[in-house]
Amino acid sequence: MRQAKNFSGQFFFFLAVLLALCPPAVQAAADPLPDPATAPALKTVFASHFLIGGAITPNTGNDPDQLALLRKHYNSVTAENIMKPEKMSIMEDMYSYGAADRMVEFAMKNEMKVRGHTLVWHQQTPNWFFEDDDGREVSAAILQGRLEKYVHDVVTHFKGKIYAWDVVNEVIDENESNGFRRSRWYKILGSDFIDIAFKAARAADPELKLFINDYSTEQSKKRAFLYSLVKQLKSKGVPVDGVGHQMHVSAWYPQPEEIAKTLRMFEELGVENHITELDVSLYNDPGSCFSNSNSCLRYASEAAIPAADLQRQARQYQDIFEVFLRFKSVTSVTFWGISDLNTWLTSWPVNRPNLPLLFDKSFQPKAAFWSVVDTAKAKK
Ligand code: GLA
Repeated sequence: MRQAKNFSGQFFFFLAVLLALCPPAVQAAADPLPDPATAPALKTVFASHFLIGGAITPNTGNDPDQLALLRKHYNSVTAENIMKPEKMSIMEDMYSYGAADRMVEFAMKNEMKVRGHTLVWHQQTPNWFFEDDDGREVSAAILQGRLEKYVHDVVTHFKGKIYAWDVVNEVIDENESNGFRRSRWYKILGSDFIDIAFKAARAADPELKLFINDYSTEQSKKRAFLYSLVKQLKSKGVPVDGVGHQMHVSAWYPQPEEIAKTLRMFEELGVENHITELDVSLYNDPGSCFSNSNSCLRYASEAAIPAADLQRQARQYQDIFEVFLRFKSVTSVTFWGISDLNTWLTSWPVNRPNLPLLFDKSFQPKAAFWSVVDTAKAKK
């Protein structure tokens, strides 16, 4: 009896260890995925909730397979790079709209909306804004004039074709005592550059939806600064219509409830929420990875990525879509890419394999795709 008790004790101990190592959802990894031919169109699945967007390059539509994927699932596009200031205007008063115009035309032809990204940023922005001909820093008055003209010209050029713009991108730095990133914009104009940009955009196109866009908005310190900024802007009458949450997240973090907190706070403030750059990295190495690339995890190859990681990613996608669906204010969800074939996460923060999106490199739906679809079905 005593022996039997010991035996059953050991048995349950091993069972517990086994279950801890292989939680049930991981075992589901072995489940075959549904037939890809039965995959519903994401844009239809989410039609009564939000637009489904993808960041694209000028080449995306040239590849018939990517074109088919885009047409089937997405009803909104964002330019991954070509609408950023360094691409729009390399010199003062000189604009290069060609590639962006072709993308807008492509989107209109394929019945997709266009989210503009981005008018004001501290990166990918030419020096001419901030310097005179001799390379000396310009005065606040000159920079204000240049900013107003740039925003006016670009917004006017795309008037009626782009329905929403990220007016400012990444202006918060939660490590600064007042929460403002010390960009060249901030150093010369203080936080007024934000007000100036929004007002110029509204004046150029009163119909346009104007967004403030940032990353890690689910982190409490960042969220608090962003919230107080948007609240203040609204109380001053600065026309902010929505907050863009980049949502470059991981299969391991953040907690979906932190995302919910953020979306709720902005919804209650009366602004729209757009998810603007969604991808779910397979790696769990925030912080130290960025300051010391040797500390970054790397799988030796794609083949070395454990199936359990893709299952973890599918669960994270499922959980965060469940959160998005709770909020009426979430009116657009854009992925930063349309398939794993093209993603910035294979070269940032270091070169390494990563598969962060819903479709694999052959454009077939992954476990993450099906989990997102199931979330929508469960909501109905
Ligand atoms: C930020 C920017 C995007 C893009 C990504 C990286 O999130 O907002 O425009 O540059 O980084 O690809």
